[in-house]
Amino acid sequence: MKELENNIKKIKDSCLKELKKARSLESLEEIRVAYLGRSGALTEIMSTLKTLSLEQKRTLGPDLNELKKQLHDAYESRVSEFEKKNLSSDALFDVTAYKPHQMHGSLHIYTHIIEQLTEIFISMGYTIADGPEMETEYYNFTTLNIPDDHPARDSHDTFWLSQPDRLLRTHTSSVQAHSMEQATPPLAIFAPGRCYRNEATDASHDFMFTQGEGLFVDTNVSMSQLLATARTFLQHFFGKEDLKIRVRPGYFPFVEPGVEIDGSCPFCSDGCSVCKHTKWIELLGAGLVHPNVLRANGIDPEKYSGFAFGFGIERLAMIKYGINDIRLFHSAHIPFLQQFA
Ligand code: DAH
Repeated sequence: MKELENNIKKIKDSCLKELKKARSLESLEEIRVAYLGRSGALTEIMSTLKTLSLEQKRTLGPDLNELKKQLHDAYESRVSEFEKKNLSSDALFDVTAYKPHQMHGSLHIYTHIIEQLTEIFISMGYTIADGPEMETEYYNFTTLNIPDDHPARDSHDTFWLSQPDRLLRTHTSSVQAHSMEQATPPLAIFAPGRCYRNEATDASHDFMFTQGEGLFVDTNVSMSQLLATARTFLQHFFGKEDLKIRVRPGYFPFVEPGVEIDGSCPFCSDGCSVCKHTKWIELLGAGLVHPNVLRANGIDPEKYSGFAFGFGIERLAMIKYGINDIRLFHSAHIPFLQQFA
């Protein structure tokens, strides 16, 4: 018994001494295993308890448990000393060390703008529609009242594909027929999407760009509904409650009458460089859907009427954010993109 007690004392003293001397987390772990581990010195002694008399067990048992806890606490407190030291030690943490520049991902300006637009149209009860970027002549032209020999086909510098009757859509108006085919009026859709035109690029033209197309078909649709919709949309998009619109006649084969809608300059009241000192900015093409378009898509023009409008999404974004070159949108120009992060 005396010998056992001596052994226990020895274990205690040497374990505490070793813990105190340890210089790394690894050696602390080794000490823990050597004393408190499954076949550690203390664990082994505890397993000899069963050979003792009841009386001896009663005195030694609680002492051993107490010792085990004491050694474990001593080990834990050394570990936390090391951890704290690691965080604050100048030797281990060099504040002047070179850290490579980290780039953060963010949403592209296209995503921001299209989200703003779709949110506005959804709030007005519109559904978001989509159509293919590779189109047929039928959806891009014919069903929009632009027959084969129509001069309007020439004004759309079309990228024709090598397969017969396949082209890259020149406008999102092509989504009109897809939507009318799929639903019966009333119908209110907004279709944002990419379009292509085979033309030379400059600061305001690109061979690939994005348009938004709106279409509303119901009974008794009027020009005043179109104008109220256009004004509400533009007021929300530019965040300007008192934005006014102005209407000029315009020609688009798929609407009759066709109009061009200008918005009052969101940045000035008496002329600035954005509105080229005219106080107005041309924003949308629009009109009442031509009866031929309704008819071509199985909608009776005697019963239903509609309005449609279209605009360049980059153009609206360029005005809103003061962007001076449309080609920046897909330039992968990091400083440009970071402004919208
Ligand atoms: N598709 C026309 C374009 O690309 C824009 C447009 C004008 C759309 C008038 C319309 C509209 O729906 O009614 O220039």
